[in-house]
Amino acid sequence: MKAVGVLEFGGPDVLRVLDLPEPQAGPGEVRVSVHAAAVSPTDVLLRTGGHAVRMPGRRPPFVPGMDAAGVIDQLGPATGGRLAVGQRVVALVPFTGPHGGAYAEQVVVPAASVVPAPAGVGFPEASTLLMNAMTARLALDVLAVPRGGTVAVTGAAGAVGGYAVELAKADGLTVIADAAEGDAAVVRGFGADHVVERGSGVAARIRECVPGGVDALVDGSMQTTEVVPAIRDGGALAELRGWSGPAGRGIRVHPVMVSDRLEDIAGLDALCRLAEKGVLTLRVAEVLPAHEAARAHRLLEAGGLRGRVVLDFS
Ligand SMILES: NC(=O)c1ccc[n+]([C@@H]2O[C@H](COP(=O)([O-])OP(=O)(O)OC[C@H]3O[C@@H](n4cnc5c(N)ncnc54)[C@H](OP(=O)(O)O)[C@@H]3O)[C@@H](O)[C@H]2O)c1
Repeated sequence: MKAVGVLEFGGPDVLRVLDLPEPQAGPGEVRVSVHAAAVSPTDVLLRTGGHAVRMPGRRPPFVPGMDAAGVIDQLGPATGGRLAVGQRVVALVPFTGPHGGAYAEQVVVPAASVVPAPAGVGFPEASTLLMNAMTARLALDVLAVPRGGTVAVTGAAGAVGGYAVELAKADGLTVIADAAEGDAAVVRGFGADHVVERGSGVAARIRECVPGGVDALVDGSMQTTEVVPAIRDGGALAELRGWSGPAGRGIRVHPVMVSDRLEDIAGLDALCRLAEKGVLTLRVAEVLPAHEAARAHRLLEAGGLRGRVVLDFS
């Protein structure tokens, strides 16, 4: 089967089409015939070697991709009766594991990481959901702001940020989000109660909306210390790239890792149902043929994308 992966770490051009043995589903695993694989920042980290520490002893090729949408074409033993061959599904793919990632015609994943795809949605759109929405869900869960509280979301026009705004609104929170001028309408469309200009000084602008400081903040723009002044004393901060503080003033800093929720069947399924209802907005920037993965990575690294680039493996 064809896959896209790397034999050595490096720039976008190390991504190449590979001919790999057809993977077989073992106990508790299913094989998905991949139609679409979303391209995310963590795939760039895999390509450049940033995930090497999580793959000790593993040899190349390394195949990126944490988000697959497709059709189940093989069930391993002991997968229970929940899933069936021929079912349209989405999968959260543990790409640093032995089977590799979603940039492949077929991927083998734990059955617990596979749920029915949102109904009425194409494969490219479906592939943009799980990894980033689950990260946003995890961030809001660790922040644990009670209904009626306030949360700020930076990077709100981005994938994790957009889902964080929509999930926070569904949780009954007041949301202050950042955006560039050109993204303000989109972010307001996600339900943000207040939209402030992004970038340097964002914390002070959030404070203008909530003078006492917000209860918590999801740092989708990875501004770390810069966003801390927006949070009230004793509040909480969710970080996406491992920063763990200290933030001072009794503020709890929670680095979140989506890998903690790879097999949360109920949680993954709930996100699909929210996408089906339109509570979560699925955004595709562009669909590219799989062999153009290097171009997809260049687009992502250039920044400014709104929605995911998706690789077509159908
Ligand atoms: N810990 C985990 O498990 C986990 C899971 C998923 C993602 N992540 C990480 O979370 C981060 C966000 O991921 P994503 O997929 O949401 O990325 P994304 O779609 O690119 O969104 C990031 C957003 O932040 C904006 N931004 C970047 N720097 C900024 C700055 N200095 N000030 C204001 N806005 C800024 C970007 O704008 P431009 O596009 O204009 O630059 C973009 O709108 C990435 O670092 C990713 O690796 C971590």
